[in-house]
Formats: sequence, C-alpha cells, structure tokens
Amino acid sequence: MLALTLFSLFCAPLYVQATGPWIDYPADGTATMTHYTIPDGFIAACGCTGASTEYPTAAMSQMAYGSSTAFGPACGKCFNLTLLNTYTGDPPFFPDVVKSIVIKVTDLCPLSEAGWCSGTQTKKNPGGQYINFDLAYPSAAIPDDFFPSNASYYGYTDFGVWNVSYQTVSCLPNWAGANNKAALGSVTNLGNESVCCPANPTGNPNDTCPSYSDDNALPPNTMTSVARMLAIPTALVVGLVFAHLFGT
Ligand SMILES: *[C@@H]1O[C@H](CO)[C@@H](O)[C@H](O)[C@H]1NC(C)=O
Ligand SMILES: *[C@@H]1O[C@H](CO)[C@@H](O)[C@H](O)[C@H]1NC(C)=O
Ligand SMILES: *[C@@H]1O[C@H](CO)[C@@H](O)[C@H](O)[C@H]1NC(C)=O
Ligand SMILES: *[C@@H]1O[C@H](CO)[C@@H](O)[C@H](O)[C@H]1NC(C)=O
Ligand SMILES: *[C@@H]1O[C@H](CO)[C@@H](O)[C@H](O)[C@H]1NC(C)=O
Repeated sequence: MLALTLFSLFCAPLYVQATGPWIDYPADGTATMTHYTIPDGFIAACGCTGASTEYPTAAMSQMAYGSSTAFGPACGKCFNLTLLNTYTGDPPFFPDVVKSIVIKVTDLCPLSEAGWCSGTQTKKNPGGQYINFDLAYPSAAIPDDFFPSNASYYGYTDFGVWNVSYQTVSCLPNWAGANNKAALGSVTNLGNESVCCPANPTGNPNDTCPSYSDDNALPPNTMTSVARMLAIPTALVVGLVFAHLFGT
C-alpha cells in the first residue's frame, strides 16, 4: 500500500510533465531580443556544429524552445528578427532605420523566475512578451554597428534589450550560413541521441527535433537540478551554463 502510494506520488507528476507546457507560438509575432556571448566555435545546447557560430545564431527562451535540457523543437529553426524599439531607457527609443537579421536557433536560454527568458504559456517576461531571442553578439557574423543608438542623447549605445518582431523563415537560403555545409547540422562526436540541429526544420516531425525533456520525462520547469546535469553530456552542461550566465 505504501509502495503504491509512493509510486503514484512520484510517477503521476512525471506523466504530466512528459507532455510539457511549451509555448505554441505563432509563426510570426513579437518578442524581446537580448544578447549574450558564446566563444567562436562553441557547441551550444542543440549540438549544432561549431562552424554555426560563424553566422548569426541565438538562444531561444526555454518554454518556446521546447525542452529544459539539450535539444528541443526550436533547434535549427531560423527567424527573421526586426528591431522595433527599446524601452529600458527614457523615453523609449525608436530607430529611424529598419534593421533585421536572420538567426538560427542553436541554444537554450533557461527559464528563470524574472529574467528575459522567464516567459511561459501564461506569464510574460519583463518586456511584456512570451518569447525572448538571445542573440550571440558581439559576433564576427554581425556588424558592430548593427544596433541603432543615439549616444549623444542616452549616453550609451547598448540598450541591452529590444522589442522585436519575428517571422519564421526557411533557413535555406535565408540564413547567412545556408551555403556552408560545415555550418549546418549537428556535431557527431556527442552522439546523435544528445544533439539535434536540422539544417532546415519545417515543423514536420521528420525534419524537426523532438523535445529532449519530453523524451526523457525530465521536468519542464526546473531551474537547475543535479539529475538534469547528470543526464546530459558535459559539453551541453557548459552550453547551458553559458546561456544561464549570459542569457538572463
Ligand atoms: C526580414 O524582415 C525585413 C523587415 O520586414 C524584410 O525587409 C526582409 O525582407 C525580411 N527578410 C527575410 C529573409 O524574410
Ligand atoms: C537623439 O535624440 C534626440 C532627442 O530625442 C534627438 O533630438 C536627436 O535628433 C537624436 N539624434 C539621432 C542621431 O537620432
Ligand atoms: C513592442 O512592439 C509591439 C508592436 O509594435 C507593441 O505593441 C508593444 O507595445 C511594444 N512593447 C514595448 C514594451 O515597447
Ligand atoms: C543514431 O546513430 C546510430 C548509429 O549510427 C543509428 O543506428 C541510429 O538510428 C541513429 N539514431 C537516430 C535517432 O538518428
Ligand atoms: C518529410 O515528410 C514529407 C511528407 O510528409 C516529405 O515531403 C519530406 O520530403 C520529408 N522530409 C524528409 C527530410 O524526409
């Protein structure tokens, strides 16, 4: 009897978690965009090749990414991000130029309590959006003057967070790395069970990553747990730590 009770206590939640309360976001919409630093050649949570860092990449906030660990359905997807405005300064800054960038999602920005990647199905992040893209920047792939600014008025050039619009786009041919085979796909040395980075995911199950969390019955919303850390290869843990340090 006690064994049965324990069984249901521990197993029932796992079943619920296995479906994952991921955000079913529209193909086009608005989001926030922050930026974070990853080293050149770095293999982040999806396990995309190191050469992917030669082109614009981003981490996506966890509940939209679709996994709390390793790869998720967002891995490899490309989005056209267009800067709309900033609002952390006073007054909000509306650039007089239209700046867009096509990024490929290669990393996970872990869920946090209150940071930019804190959006869930029911809770917006501090920028009033459910989704955050954390751009790898500065990057050799992106001009240093990519972000518009007005230094004489604000006294700084880096607003840190932007309100953006996003469009889901085909990576081929829109992503800058589309013609470099080495920049597409996943690394093989971590094993194909722990990496997933399609060249051009369309959302069809045959070309889109599953959720590593769902596949392994890992909780969707733990911030950090020993079990999670042990469940994934070291390189991915490092990727998550990077995302965590710089992405929130
Ligand atoms: C990205 O968005 C901008 C602004 O709307 C647009 O001019 C550009 O053509 C778009 N790029 C792609 C590849 O969709
Ligand atoms: C900077 O902002 C001030 C105040 O809004 C404005 O008068 C000025 O034209 C702006 N300069 C640029 C380069 O946008
Ligand atoms: C972000 O842009 C959208 C679309 O223009 C707008 O509705 C929203 O108020 C903006 N959010 C902020 C915080 O500026
Ligand atoms: C992973 O690789 C092994 C050996 O190369 C192969 O048998 C297996 O089908 C692959 N699994 C997936 C999900 O691609
Ligand atoms: C996925 O399946 C669709 C039809 O369901 C097919 O047209 C497409 O070629 C398949 N893609 C891959 C990569 O196998």
